[in-house]
Amino acid sequence: MSPAFTIQSAGLTKRFGSFIAVDAVSFSVEAGEVFGFLGANGAGKTTAIRMFCGLLEPTSGSGQVAGFDIMKESGRIRTRIGYMSQKFSLYPDLTVRDNLFLFGSIYGIKGELLRSRTDEMVAFLEMSNLLPRVTGTLPWGWQQRLSLACANLHHPPILFLDEPTGSVDPVSRQTFWNFILALSRQGTTIFITTHHMDEAEYCRRISIMVSGRIAAIDTPAQLKKKYAAATLQDAFIRIVQPAAEGTAP
Ligand SMILES: Nc1ncnc2c1ncn2[C@@H]1O[C@H](COP(=O)(O)OP(=O)(O)OP(=O)(O)O)[C@@H](O)[C@H]1O
Ligand SMILES: [Mg+2]
Repeated sequence: MSPAFTIQSAGLTKRFGSFIAVDAVSFSVEAGEVFGFLGANGAGKTTAIRMFCGLLEPTSGSGQVAGFDIMKESGRIRTRIGYMSQKFSLYPDLTVRDNLFLFGSIYGIKGELLRSRTDEMVAFLEMSNLLPRVTGTLPWGWQQRLSLACANLHHPPILFLDEPTGSVDPVSRQTFWNFILALSRQGTTIFITTHHMDEAEYCRRISIMVSGRIAAIDTPAQLKKKYAAATLQDAFIRIVQPAAEGTAP
């Protein structure tokens, strides 16, 4: 794998019985890139991310993350990535501070380093005053900020963010993106799914998945040009609709 690429796949495929959720997907993501992984509901985004994170075994094809094989070296991959899953994965009964400390210890961060990373993360995400609060009682946008903080505590070089801003208010979304873009400027590779086209505009490149396949991949500006669309939303619809018409999920 070229060192310039931190995420790569060739013919990556996942079948569930006779159903093909991810169908021979091949692409590369450069180090430090903000890469938008877009597609309609059920297109196969989460399934692909779970394979890259070593949480789901591919049926066929290959992939590398941080230079490691997703089939054979998933343990090594997990120490180099942060993963914010589409489903909320923190402990709702624990306080914000306890969730951060728990995730830190899972990633092997202890003592003073854990305290300073926690302080750094909550300050950036403007939630320092929420440390004693019980997580499950927080509004959704704040729970998602906490998930992002937990995924980034160990300063992974690659962050997989699966729909982090779903049902999140505009202010929290902006805070999220300020954080994401700052991480990218520091060299972190961001692999993110979103259904918000205004957010997709922040990505250097985006791919658009249709029924398990990558239907388009390019910069937002090039995609608009290629599909003669005034907005990314229009380009997205032009790419997704012809292929999806008449097919039920
Ligand atoms: N464990 C499973 N067994 C059977 N089918 C599955 C399984 N996991 C996912 N699927 C199917 O694979 C397809 C892709 O699902 P996936 O969750 O990857 O889509 P997605 O692009 O993440 O959608 P969304 O935008 O709604 O999150 C869907 O049709 C889904 O029902
Ligand atoms: Mg999904």
